[in-house]
Amino acid sequence: MRILQPGVEVPDPLAPYLEVDRSRPRHECWVTGHMVAGIDGTAAIDGRVGSLSTRPDQKLFRSMRQIADIVLVGAETVRREGYGPVKLSDSAQAQRRQLGKPSLPPVAVVSRSLNLDWTARIFTGAPDDAPTHVITCSAADPERLAEAQRHAPVIVAGDERVEPEKALRALAEAGHQVVLCEGGPTLLGELVAVNRLDELLLSISPLMGGDPLPVAVTPPGTGISRFDLQGVMAEDNTLFLRYESAGPERQRDE
Ligand SMILES: NC(=O)c1ccc[n+]([C@@H]2O[C@H](COP(=O)([O-])OP(=O)(O)OC[C@H]3O[C@@H](n4cnc5c(N)ncnc54)[C@H](OP(=O)(O)O)[C@@H]3O)[C@@H](O)[C@H]2O)c1
Repeated sequence: MRILQPGVEVPDPLAPYLEVDRSRPRHECWVTGHMVAGIDGTAAIDGRVGSLSTRPDQKLFRSMRQIADIVLVGAETVRREGYGPVKLSDSAQAQRRQLGKPSLPPVAVVSRSLNLDWTARIFTGAPDDAPTHVITCSAADPERLAEAQRHAPVIVAGDERVEPEKALRALAEAGHQVVLCEGGPTLLGELVAVNRLDELLLSISPLMGGDPLPVAVTPPGTGISRFDLQGVMAEDNTLFLRYESAGPERQRDE
């Protein structure tokens, strides 16, 4: 056991995250989850994430998208949060271009129902070179599927439901090497269940008493996944934790 002492000031809180080598994923692409929780693990307050997130967390959340080749999000989060396309500062966009990436990463929405508002900013306001994608399954309603295809590039990955491995394979084949999953808990839980979460960026906000919704909701029967703590930062009573999936020797159930 060690006491963590306050360490050096970090002038740019994004810098430690930009330094992480995500070029050698365990599978076709690297998957990072980025979530915020209360001290009691709650992932939302009154169905929204807003009042859960402290000022430095909001700032880091927005800037973290610089690491992404694509931002993956569940349809319920898009519906509840009124998700829009990614925005980044001019300097972040320039840094991405220097690395040969497009200025902005697209968003990909996972949905079986395809109950999505095609007039919403997330579809109409996305740049031409980073259109919002939809990932669905072949059980989707054919009329809704045809409608989706009129508004977005659509990936069909799975039969009755989107199979995360198939979806990630399709994203990797399209050149998306770093997938940033911004939740919600159901989608994140599906990635955990198939052992596809390489990294979790978890902010702990100094409050309790939100919705009874944990940061990840794994499907019944999912085993335990283990992670190694790789980084800790703090500001404004908020903890910023970085975990990576533990190696195979620690993944075995004891
Ligand atoms: N604390 C945080 O960091 C954080 C982050 C994000 C969201 N949130 C909160 O979390 C709540 C929403 O999360 P949630 O867990 O209810 O929903 P979610 O994960 O955002 O979305 C679930 C929806 O995604 C689609 N989906 C997920 N897995 C699928 C699969 N395998 N195949 C087909 N479709 C699939 C389905 O959409 P269809 O219903 O369209 O079929 C499903 O209903 C909100 O309150 C939001 O504020 C918190």
